[in-house]
Formats: sequence, structure tokens, C-alpha cells
Amino acid sequence: MKTIKYTMNVPQPTSASMTIRALQVDFSQGFDRRWFGGDAFRSAYFNAMSMTFPLGEQSFIDSIKGVDHLIDERIESPAERAALRAQLTDFSAQEATHRHIHAQYNTVLAKQGFENAVEKRIEKRLVRYSKEHPMNLLAATCAYEHYTAILSETLLKNPATSSAMHPMMRRLWLWHALEETEHKVVAFDLYKRLGGHEKGRIVAYLLAMVFMQIDAFLQTTNNLRRDGALWKPSTLWGMLTFYFGRPSKGNGWIWMTTRPLLAYFKRDFHPNQLGKADLPQAYASEHALDWRVVRSGSITSYQQTA
Ligand SMILES: [Fe+2]
Ligand SMILES: [Fe+2]
Repeated sequence: MKTIKYTMNVPQPTSASMTIRALQVDFSQGFDRRWFGGDAFRSAYFNAMSMTFPLGEQSFIDSIKGVDHLIDERIESPAERAALRAQLTDFSAQEATHRHIHAQYNTVLAKQGFENAVEKRIEKRLVRYSKEHPMNLLAATCAYEHYTAILSETLLKNPATSSAMHPMMRRLWLWHALEETEHKVVAFDLYKRLGGHEKGRIVAYLLAMVFMQIDAFLQTTNNLRRDGALWKPSTLWGMLTFYFGRPSKGNGWIWMTTRPLLAYFKRDFHPNQLGKADLPQAYASEHALDWRVVRSGSITSYQQTA
């Protein structure tokens, strides 16, 4: 039996909570087509992300299951294996809840006449991915998890980014952002712990960035076309301010996210090097009435020093 020693530099165990929450949300009345402050572009873009989530989050759960045998092969200590598996179960439970809620959200979008145009592309890609080594699939999950963690931390850190959302949609997006921030280290630490190498991590991130941009572009334009807003000057203005506006007004996503997104390319990168550790906890304590706690778990991570 081959045992790979944990190789991170100067590992300092840190502990954080990871809670499974059932969000209190009711889609029976639907929501406005332009639920994001009446803005066609922002509504279409966030809807596009939601449309990719059910398949995407299932693939994260599958990638974790796919390396289960490697946990037995590569981790000697039964206690460590058990602790790790408990953490992975909680990660999968959070992602499964997200998938479930976003599927309900997407059902409302379908009733509004929006068409999920990227689902088939993602399905085909996942079939191709399934032939890869399970560590490559896990590297892809780490890549998507970094992307979602950066978007999530930006939403949580700067309330102006979500203040124009319809209150129910804001609750949903910030709940998802909270849990993405909470579990941002889980797939990454697993990849490292199982001996995943840096090259595979970086290649997976490059591929994920390309696919994510293409998927988001195709689905957002499709949503805008169905909303009758694709060629309107107000849509173009919405897009320009969203990417290049002022962060103090909740805009300028290029300025807010480019640096942390590029940080993933750094040698010895670790997700805990970014963001404020108490950010998820602060949001969770202020919004505890938004959900019912199903169970609380914890994460032990290893913060690297570069
Ligand atoms: Fe998620
Ligand atoms: Fe996630």
C-alpha cells in the first residue's frame, strides 16, 4: 500500500464550521423576469449561472466519490480517513442542497420561457471528463470551486453587489455564497492530500476558465434574446457597468475579481490565503432566520505560507 505524505509547506491546521442549511425559500409565486433591480443583463447573467449549477454541482459530488478508493490507498491513518470522509459528506450535502434549490429556481425560468441552452454542452463535456483519471476530475472541481469562492466572497464582502436583487433572490444567492465560502478548501485540500500535482491543478483551471466564460456567454445571450433585450443600449450599459463600474456601487466585477482569480496560478496557492476567515460566520449569524440548520460539521484545513 502506497502512502503519500502531506507535502504542503508549513501546514498550520485551521478549523472552521461547515453547516448544512435548508434555505427558507418559496418559488410558488415565481419572481420577476428582471429580478436583479430591473436590469436585463444582471438578471440574465445570474440566471445563466443558475442554469449551469444542477449539472455542475452534481459533477463536484461525483468527483469526490470518484477518488474515494484513493483515500484508502493513500491515507494510512483510519482516524484521518474517517475525519476526511465526514468532511466530504458535509461538502456533498451542501452541494446537493444547492443543486436542489437551483433546480427549483430553473423551473421558474423555464416557465418564464427561458431555455437552458448550455445543459447539453455541459453533459457532453462531463461524459468526456468521465474517461479521465479521477484526480483530473477532482482538479476540475478545485478549479470551479475557486471561481465560485471568489464570486461568493465578493458578494458577501460588498453588500452593494447584491442590494438591487429581489429580496428572495438575494437571500438565495447569499446563502449559496455563504456555503461556497465555507467549503472552499474542501476539494482543494483533498486534491493536495491525495498527492495531486501542481501542473494538473493549473491545466484544469485554465480549461475551467475557458469553458466557464463560453458557457456564461452563450447562456446569457440566449437569456437576453428570450427577454427581448439582447440588442438594447440599456443592456449594453448594464453589462459595461457590471464589469467596469465602481465597486463602491456594487459594480466593477473585473476590478473586484481579477486579482484573486489569478492568484490560483501561484505556486503554493491555498484558498485560505484569500478572503476574510470570519466573513461566512458573520453573514451566517446575521441571517440565521433565512434557513433551518440541518446539521453542523467542521473543516480542518491547512493554511500555507508561501
Ligand atoms: Fe454550490
Ligand atoms: Fe462548492
